[in-house]
Amino acid sequence: MVQLTLPKNSTIRTGKTWPKPEGATNVRQFQIYRWNPDDGKNPQVDTYFIDMDSCGPMILDALIKIKNDVDPTLTFRRSCREGICGSCAMNVDGINTLACIYGLDEVQKDVVKIYPLPHMPVVKDLIPDLTHFYAQHASTMPWLETKTNRPAKEWKQSIDDRKKLDGLYECVMCACCSTSCPSYWWNGDRYLGPAALLHAYRWIIDSRDEATGERLDDLEDPFKLYRCHTIMNCAKTCPKGLNPAKAIAEIKKMMIERHV
Ligand code: SF4
Ligand code: SF4
Ligand code: FES
Repeated sequence: MVQLTLPKNSTIRTGKTWPKPEGATNVRQFQIYRWNPDDGKNPQVDTYFIDMDSCGPMILDALIKIKNDVDPTLTFRRSCREGICGSCAMNVDGINTLACIYGLDEVQKDVVKIYPLPHMPVVKDLIPDLTHFYAQHASTMPWLETKTNRPAKEWKQSIDDRKKLDGLYECVMCACCSTSCPSYWWNGDRYLGPAALLHAYRWIIDSRDEATGERLDDLEDPFKLYRCHTIMNCAKTCPKGLNPAKAIAEIKKMMIERHV
């Protein structure tokens, strides 16, 4: 039977309100999702106050300040702090984005609401479990497949062929797009989702790759590729400005062309 309400252990409670910084005049409120798998309690939203005069300009700066100065138990992923590693992806004010390159001044509302990426199992607080997402990426063979003998030096590519990879190679596998895609929410077990499909296309159109037929054969499936209904949430949310929906449309076009 279809369940239309949240299971009881998923209902979000109002959590702890932490004290305001003393003597601060430029204070901003943050409401942050918390869930600890070890305490057996439901998730909650904690409220924090930050002195913006002593905080950096990005969402990640505020999270680090909270962790350092207020609540060391707040848990989130981050590494490069410059939009390259993809690890700080989360939902800020309803938008999936990278916390390190999303400015605090981009949040129009006074209160900044921060949640983990939607529709993913949560490991703890703002950390989603990306095991299945990475397995789907791996299933697309994200590497150069060749059959001819290896050249003495590198595999060469013309400047024009190299240009075809622009808008694809920049993907940092943050999962912002896939977790914003309604088709992925409902069919993520079998639909590969925009991130994995963008990577699949990146290797399909690489002039050096010699497994194009096998790659297309693998995607010839009612779920893996064809669950994309061009809703375009993926392109709207990508913090790197990429367009996975376009890559998916190109794969579909190649599928049609190979059957003509
Ligand atoms: S265009 Fe396709 S992949 Fe992108 S959000 Fe829509 S359904 Fe998902
Ligand atoms: S396409 Fe954009 S949103 Fe999707 S995983 Fe790559 S960088 Fe992230
Ligand atoms: S910390 Fe690496 S992308 Fe944000």
